[in-house]
Amino acid sequence: MSARPRRSCLYMPGANVKALEKAKTLPADVLLLDLEDSVAPEAKEAARAQVVNAVKGGGYGKREIIVRANALATPWGRDDIVAAGSAKPDGLLAPKVSSAEEVVALDNAMTAAGFPDTATLWVMIETPRAFFNIAEIAACARKTRLSAFVLGLNDLAKETRARATNGRAAFYAPLSLAVLAARAEGLSAIDGVFNDIADGAGLEVECRQGLEFGYDGKTLIHPSQIETANSVFAPSEEELARARAVIAAFALPENAGKGVIKVDGKMAELLHLEEATRLVAVADAIEAPA
Ligand code: COA
Ligand code: MG
Repeated sequence: MSARPRRSCLYMPGANVKALEKAKTLPADVLLLDLEDSVAPEAKEAARAQVVNAVKGGGYGKREIIVRANALATPWGRDDIVAAGSAKPDGLLAPKVSSAEEVVALDNAMTAAGFPDTATLWVMIETPRAFFNIAEIAACARKTRLSAFVLGLNDLAKETRARATNGRAAFYAPLSLAVLAARAEGLSAIDGVFNDIADGAGLEVECRQGLEFGYDGKTLIHPSQIETANSVFAPSEEELARARAVIAAFALPENAGKGVIKVDGKMAELLHLEEATRLVAVADAIEAPA
């Protein structure tokens, strides 16, 4: 499982050159350069060229750069992947994936486009059918570049007619299923967007809810949302203190070879040590210089 922080994943329309430039100074962990739903059909080709230029131009520091392509079933999908392959972003995000076969096809398209094996493939989980194939989709991580699920709850709401009211009660099942399948295969899991840009308090509540479900971070649509996601999804001081105590305790000579010990009065097993090590690695990566 990656220790790369993915607390804040900011979408920006590939057609918006100003946003692509502004992103170089924004403290988002991940930039999702979009060629799909935020780009009108007439602007698809121009956006693709702009995104390629931006990625080749660099200047994004340690931010993870992911290009969201159009689906392979659209007139633009394959050309998007070929263009992205020439620009060498960290990875590709594919929309509306509903089956394992699609993941394999995407991975093959990435290879054909010249993406290295180290590039990552993220997929949007946003169709009703994806939730019935979710285990098989996640299991593609064993044989492809698949490394993250991104929830697309606006699309899911459109397809299902569910509403994001009442603390997203209608989305509990999708929120759970996606994170369970992701964790079963060691994938990152990123929550959907919060549309009301002006509602900072609402965003914080929803970030906390995503965190409680187990998500690593949230997809965002506006720079004003970054700080909230960064702070909610960062390991807390208490969590880090506990993690460091667990690591230190297991490292003591008298605890060598033990599977379970007591740390500050609470039980700690090897599974806690594993999680503590990941948490400290995430915190170190957050602190690393740009
Ligand atoms: N990424 C980077 N920069 C962004 C941004 C984003 N997602 N959204 C806004 N900005 C920039 C603007 O360019 C503007 O920059 P400036 O101060 O240099 O002029 C600044 O932040 C303030 O923007 P603001 O005026 O508040 O918003 P807007 O009216 O220009 O744009 C949206 C509002 C919703 C159109 C815009 O935020 C957006 O396109 N979001 C992403 C949408 C998207 O990608 N959706 C697909 C996935 S759901
Ligand atoms: Mg979508």
